[in-house]
Amino acid sequence: MKIKLFYLIACALFTTITNAQTYAKNGMVVSDNSAASKVGTEILKKGGNAIDASIATAFALAVTHPQAGNIGGGGFLVFMKSDGNATTIDFREKAPLKATTNMFLDKDGNLIAGSNHNGLQSVGVPGTVAGLYMAHKKYGKLPWASLVQPAVDLAENGVPLSYTLYKHALHYKKESEFMANYFTNEKGEITQMDEIWKQPVLAATLKEIRDNGKDGFYKGKVAKEIARFMKKNDGLITLKDLAKYEAVERAPLKGTYKGHDIFVMPPPSSGGVALLEMMNIMELADFNKAPFNSTPYVHLVAEAMRRAFADRAEHLGDPDFNLNMPLEKLTSKEFAKNRYNNIDWQKASVSDSTKYGQIYDGTNTTHLSVLDKDGNAVSLTYTLEHSYGSRLGSPKLGFIFNNEMGDFNPQPGYTNSKGLIGSAANIIKPEKRMLSSMTPTIVAKDGKAVLVIGSPGGRTIINTVFQTVLNVIEFDMPIHMAIETMKIHHQWLPDRILYERGLLSPDTVKALEAMGHTMEPRGQLGRLMGITVDSDNKVYVGASDSSSPDGGAVGY
Ligand code: DON
Repeated sequence: MKIKLFYLIACALFTTITNAQTYAKNGMVVSDNSAASKVGTEILKKGGNAIDASIATAFALAVTHPQAGNIGGGGFLVFMKSDGNATTIDFREKAPLKATTNMFLDKDGNLIAGSNHNGLQSVGVPGTVAGLYMAHKKYGKLPWASLVQPAVDLAENGVPLSYTLYKHALHYKKESEFMANYFTNEKGEITQMDEIWKQPVLAATLKEIRDNGKDGFYKGKVAKEIARFMKKNDGLITLKDLAKYEAVERAPLKGTYKGHDIFVMPPPSSGGVALLEMMNIMELADFNKAPFNSTPYVHLVAEAMRRAFADRAEHLGDPDFNLNMPLEKLTSKEFAKNRYNNIDWQKASVSDSTKYGQIYDGTNTTHLSVLDKDGNAVSLTYTLEHSYGSRLGSPKLGFIFNNEMGDFNPQPGYTNSKGLIGSAANIIKPEKRMLSSMTPTIVAKDGKAVLVIGSPGGRTIINTVFQTVLNVIEFDMPIHMAIETMKIHHQWLPDRILYERGLLSPDTVKALEAMGHTMEPRGQLGRLMGITVDSDNKVYVGASDSSSPDGGAVGY
């Protein structure tokens, strides 16, 4: 793994590297909000482990990064202990008991446009509090209340409203009555940039969780208000749904790449399976013939993505409802060989629109990475689905409900070239978890975590994490460079390569078009939060993506 001149030149020419690395000896937290990262680092300083810090950071993000940080959504946590063992916690939302397979279809069986992402019926039973609580119960060190308290303080005492949130305040106030009041100050006016923004109602909800743990959300006052609000406004979630919700500890999927171990989420994340399939395909490549960022390289990466996304669409869904998913096969070296061998080096393959695929989406989700002084690592991604989720919430609770029901395949049996998927594995069923692209990842070498990484970005998550992992372990890039450079996205259907504007030279774009690829420039793909370990010097090196305006790596 030598630093290669070609990608240094490519980076200098084609990407703007505006973020820097942060170095620390003892511990580090990287998240989408530097105040939240600081909360996590303070927990580490007090003797908390990586799990404690991730819980405190996640609660803090629910206050300071409300577009995706949440208690009303769900997510995944990958935990690698310093002894080399890894585990995962699945706190993905579930369809309510009253949900039905055809709930978003009209009388002719067609999807009512937007219905699966709007209104209270788009809300899945939230999983975040249950997931964080389970992580603490099984692996935490410091008292639970001490991990929730910093978020209570941030909500109660307030935070200066950032430029980003100020813009959101102006934009989202039109979306719903809840959003119209969300960013207001004591005078009932929109909080100005840099003015202290307080959330007393959210603070009261967080206190219930602080004092009563999981039950503070799923039973008692908060649960009763969720159920009342849902019933009054045509939502489906009941007290029974809340009382029944459980996070699940699942064995991670483990892959390998040239001497590294890669720990990822199993389904209901599709990200882990797809990441391992693509890494296995890349392991077969000769990078002398496909140098970084060259036409054959982009072709290879895109073809690997196309194949992994087709398999994702065909096979993956909630494991509790799909007992025979071919996970071992999809993540095997043998299968990758087969996939690699049918790549035509001269020509783009064609995504068959009568089969599988899914649309691009990229509003919001958030990722945090943590390493503690003992080398325990946490990679946590959680989401409300869209930015500010359903944009709905009870004014008595102060938090936002997700709109995650939109991640199910809404129209059974119907897949189109625009990317709607109809495969059976991910159709709506009561109490089912919707398929996710979130891909929290930990890469290890010799039993020690060396890279903790993840991203928001809908289906682009899988691909931006994939390319960042490759950048670090194949091309030996420092973490900030790996995060900033080389991101394309192909997801089988629609059949086209999205590439970050400025990434590829016009000649490369033309050459790829001549091979049959449809090329579409985009703004930023992904918003990665990562930590690498310089094992020789025992230093943690962290970086938050420059596209995250309030993000930060904080170490000590
Ligand atoms: O779980 C998923 O795959 C999606 N709900 C994530 C949504 C997302 O990342 C949107 N934006 N950045």
